[in-house]
Amino acid sequence: MSESSTSPLTAVVLVAAGSGQRLGYGMPKAAVPLGGDTILIHALRGIVAAGVGSQICVVLPAGDDGLRALCDDFRAELADGGPLLTVVSGGATRADSVRAGLAALVPDVEAVLVHDAARALTPEAVFHRVASALAAGAKAVIPAIAVVDTVKTVAATTGTAAGIAPEVVTGTAPREDLRAVQTPQGFELATLLAAHQAAVNLPAEAAAAVTDDAMLVEMLGAAVHVVRGSSQSLKITTPLDLILAEGLLEGPLGGRWVEG
Ligand code: CTP
Ligand code: MG
Repeated sequence: MSESSTSPLTAVVLVAAGSGQRLGYGMPKAAVPLGGDTILIHALRGIVAAGVGSQICVVLPAGDDGLRALCDDFRAELADGGPLLTVVSGGATRADSVRAGLAALVPDVEAVLVHDAARALTPEAVFHRVASALAAGAKAVIPAIAVVDTVKTVAATTGTAAGIAPEVVTGTAPREDLRAVQTPQGFELATLLAAHQAAVNLPAEAAAAVTDDAMLVEMLGAAVHVVRGSSQSLKITTPLDLILAEGLLEGPLGGRWVEG
């Protein structure tokens, strides 16, 4: 990693265009209430508090006027000299939504943090660790935490075992080598654009298996550096996650950034 004393001009793409099927609230996840606000507003506050982007590009479900209005209100609250807040419509997959955000970045941007609105409580320290690694010369940086469960690979059973259970274990991954990966993921903009450009040509099955941006950079063969994430950066996916997030906001110590 080469050393550099100045931070690259950085933007944040906040992807919030998902439908929130697994949360089951009957509305886009970004609009779901959290701690007296919405998931989207918590995510935006975290980015602004971290002070990591001169532009924040929010990617929303197409045609969602309510979420657009929330962004307009949030923009009006931003202090003079604060980040430029832009809003675009997302696509059918997360990768499509990221591409829509990247296409709306202002011309001089050199680095980008891609963040899931679903990780509404990411501590500032995580943004800073990712941004610092980018400033030090990394082209791709992801935050990650240790895996607490034992993780096994499985396959559908065949033959006699089929009546016992639908799956059998095919292997146990060495836990010390595994990491649970979070966002914000930071990239040199040119590297991420090249990775997404290459992904446009992936076969449908491979495209469906793309769950984060770092995977696309890995496919290019570039090094992806790992910094420490935080268990508070949980991705609000299921109703249990929402209960945990509410608990973090209301709990002991004011619920604020117990773990940085
Ligand atoms: N996302 C997006 N565009 C999509 C799909 C997902 O911007 N077409 C965003 C989500 O808004 C979320 C992040 O990507 O902030 C991670 O996705 P996920 O947690 O899966 O959210 P949803 O897709 O909304 O949830 P679900 O899969 O349960 O429907
Ligand atoms: Mg999803």
